[in-house]
Amino acid sequence: MTGADGLTVAVTGPTGDIGRSLLGALERSERVTRVLGMARRPFDPGVHGWSKVSYRQGDVLDPESVAALVADADVVVHLAFLIFGNREQTRQVNIRGSRNVFEAVAEAGTRRFVYTSSVAVYGFGDDIPEHVDETVPPHGTEAFYYSAQKAELEALLREILGAAAVDLYILRPVVVAGPDALLLVDSIAKSFQIGGRWPVERNVVKALPWLRPMLPDPGVAMQLVHHDDVANALVAAIEGKGTPGVYNLAAPDPVSLSEVAHALGWRPLPIPQRAVPVAAAAVERLQRFLPQDLAWVNAMRKTLILDTTKARTELGWHPHHSAHATLRETAIAARLQGLV
Ligand SMILES: NC(=O)c1ccc[n+]([C@@H]2O[C@H](COP(=O)([O-])OP(=O)(O)OC[C@H]3O[C@@H](n4cnc5c(N)ncnc54)[C@H](OP(=O)(O)O)[C@@H]3O)[C@@H](O)[C@H]2O)c1
Repeated sequence: MTGADGLTVAVTGPTGDIGRSLLGALERSERVTRVLGMARRPFDPGVHGWSKVSYRQGDVLDPESVAALVADADVVVHLAFLIFGNREQTRQVNIRGSRNVFEAVAEAGTRRFVYTSSVAVYGFGDDIPEHVDETVPPHGTEAFYYSAQKAELEALLREILGAAAVDLYILRPVVVAGPDALLLVDSIAKSFQIGGRWPVERNVVKALPWLRPMLPDPGVAMQLVHHDDVANALVAAIEGKGTPGVYNLAAPDPVSLSEVAHALGWRPLPIPQRAVPVAAAAVERLQRFLPQDLAWVNAMRKTLILDTTKARTELGWHPHHSAHATLRETAIAARLQGLV
């Protein structure tokens, strides 16, 4: 391990939407001297001109690769995750893979551990208040695999590392967006878009713009956070700012699904909010026959507004990007990449 002034940071899943921004931010951090990344795909940090970052291919399902990654680290950041996929496949990586990481951190005696949970950990039930701070219990929504796994993982994390002498930071971001994080467009919005899904349809839409795809809007608001703002919060945790604990992350201005539709050049399709639980129940019943991504309809059950006072006061975190600006940047990047 390096001394108190020069941190060695190990990152699982650095090739994803959050990881790519994080690597750039760590390269710029004066407190960090070395960054070790691991995920499954090939990745060359040299292409970005990063000198502190080294990368190895490896799978969190392989305990030996995980142990080797964390062995020399002062701080471990766990980002490796499957956000989309079927319930069983995601469970393998998300629960078993994360358990491997938690156990390796306990075994190695790592000084600090940073994990990105999610707004989904609170669940989307009627009993959850609309305004949520970190004292609301993270029970998740059982019918929504992502939410249930996030809740299970936070409990597992406390079980494995709760008694260890490790500074534990758990960040709970809302949907991450921005020009280098197109999940909102590429996966979430596209799961629910009506029309314009296939290249041939998109060509028809270009010729007949009034046939633009539609996005159902049950009237809930959603929060976004820019990938660079999440990276800044992660760096604050990695550097040990504030007290270890749980931190919500969100830009302050919620956006409506109609605004998302307009930004993407689609048409909003207002639907009654009471249609959402009915749709979610249908997806749950027909899950063997329907794409699992439709389970994300659960996230439209209700508006959740995260209170980020704690991140602001303790981590000194201030989002530099509003949700509306982030949405605009995301839509422009999606258009440039031909995604919409
Ligand atoms: N994006 C969001 O809107 C958002 C919001 C809230 C919370 N979060 C949470 O933040 C974390 C990171 O999210 P993200 O948006 O960066 O996800 P992402 O873009 O899907 O990236 C996931 C990362 O995990 C790696 N990975 C997946 N399976 C792996 C395995 N078996 N072994 C090793 N690496 C593996 C992927 O690389 P390979 O495919 O190359 O292995 C990639 O680097 C997740 O826990 C997610 O739930 C994300």
